[in-house]
Amino acid sequence: MADYLPTEPYRGTRDFLPEDMSIRSQVFERLYEVIESYGYQRYDGPILEPTEIYETKSSQEIVEQQLYTLTDRGGRRLSLRPEMTPSVARMIAGNVSKLNFPVRWYSHPNCHRYERPQRGRVREHWQINVDLFGSSSSAVEVEFVELVHDMMAGLGASRDMYELRVSDRVLLNAILSEVLEIPDDMLHDAARLLDRWQKYPQETLAADAAEIGLTDKQFEKLGEVVAAGVDVLNDLSQEVRDHSMLMQVLDTGARDLITFDPLIVRGFDYYTSTVFEVFDADPANRRSLFGGGRYDNLIGMFSPQQVPGFGFGMGDVTILDFLRTHGLLPDAHSDVDAVVIATEAALFDTGRLAARRLRAAGIRTTMPLEVRKLGKEISRADRAGARVVIIVGQQDWAAEQVTVRDLVSGDQQQVTLDQVAPAVQAVLEQPAR
Ligand code: HAM
Repeated sequence: MADYLPTEPYRGTRDFLPEDMSIRSQVFERLYEVIESYGYQRYDGPILEPTEIYETKSSQEIVEQQLYTLTDRGGRRLSLRPEMTPSVARMIAGNVSKLNFPVRWYSHPNCHRYERPQRGRVREHWQINVDLFGSSSSAVEVEFVELVHDMMAGLGASRDMYELRVSDRVLLNAILSEVLEIPDDMLHDAARLLDRWQKYPQETLAADAAEIGLTDKQFEKLGEVVAAGVDVLNDLSQEVRDHSMLMQVLDTGARDLITFDPLIVRGFDYYTSTVFEVFDADPANRRSLFGGGRYDNLIGMFSPQQVPGFGFGMGDVTILDFLRTHGLLPDAHSDVDAVVIATEAALFDTGRLAARRLRAAGIRTTMPLEVRKLGKEISRADRAGARVVIIVGQQDWAAEQVTVRDLVSGDQQQVTLDQVAPAVQAVLEQPAR
């Protein structure tokens, strides 16, 4: 027997058949609409980037374990983008003098990470990125809080279905150094420990804590900080509170829209203060849905200018899982409105004429490619999701007419070619099935 190649896509990647695409595009269109209502402009960039842009300031896990890297024929080391933030920072840095800050940009790239495929994690995902550049005001944070809630509302989610959890690296470092007295050179490792807090058992965390040099007492106190939640902020000095973006947000009306959570650390080295993640309230779907934060120095990797940035990435897998869990996924749409059926080959040209009129009127129209039994063609059109068939038959056409049939009501009427588009349009405007 011949050896055939597999039909499955590469592990961790997905094929999207038209039905999947219909659902996805309805979801994404809603999100684009909300994002654009805040004045964001769409951009895009290359899928391949020089590997260094990830090595300098990204996540250790991504750089060491998850990059897809290749060497091109000129010996350059390139990577498939695992995220968009370094790319957009490069674009902003390269165009600083032309841009009118603050800049609000969004994109929807596919990103590649070599991960173990599991629920919520794949090797190629599509990530909506929304970023604002050029402002150090905490009004940015407040705007993002509103945007996140509006995006969730745009998807049909109510406030009890998810939670926006926020922290601040300035506060976190202060908690670790002022409250726990952890020395500066251990802050990074201690923050990483917090990032892993809910994903690992206490014994593993205790062993990791010992390995990075924390005392038993400090580890115990770390547990107390986690349990204390927002109360831990009372112990911080005024200077720290003044420097924290999050403290400023907590002083505004947005306070009621967020939950402070010291366990929100996020794995990227470039975040400098506010960090956030959105979680599903349903325990069936415990993974973070999406997240981001403030990164005030990333542009500095490419240019001497200081341009603060704030943004987030929302992956397709996690948000679609969320919508599925809450019964909010839209139905797949049909891609065809009308089918023109010529009952014999001699009438094909007339059929094509009718189809052209319909398409010109914005009606999505197909025609069978050969003559088959009328009844069979009508049921095919119905299965394809068409609402209307236009039958071009010998008798009608002798009187220069065609038949327009509504497949939902069964009603039909004879019209001339000039009337065909308005007649079909009128049927399409009737309530759907
Ligand atoms: P991230 O948390 O690594 O952040 O990814 C953002 C979102 O992308 C995740 O919450 C998840 O929805 C999705 N995602 C990431 N990796 C995978 C994967 N392997 N499989 C499925 N979905 C995934 C960033 O990438 C930051 N660059 C976001 C950002 C934009 N920060 C500022 N601006």
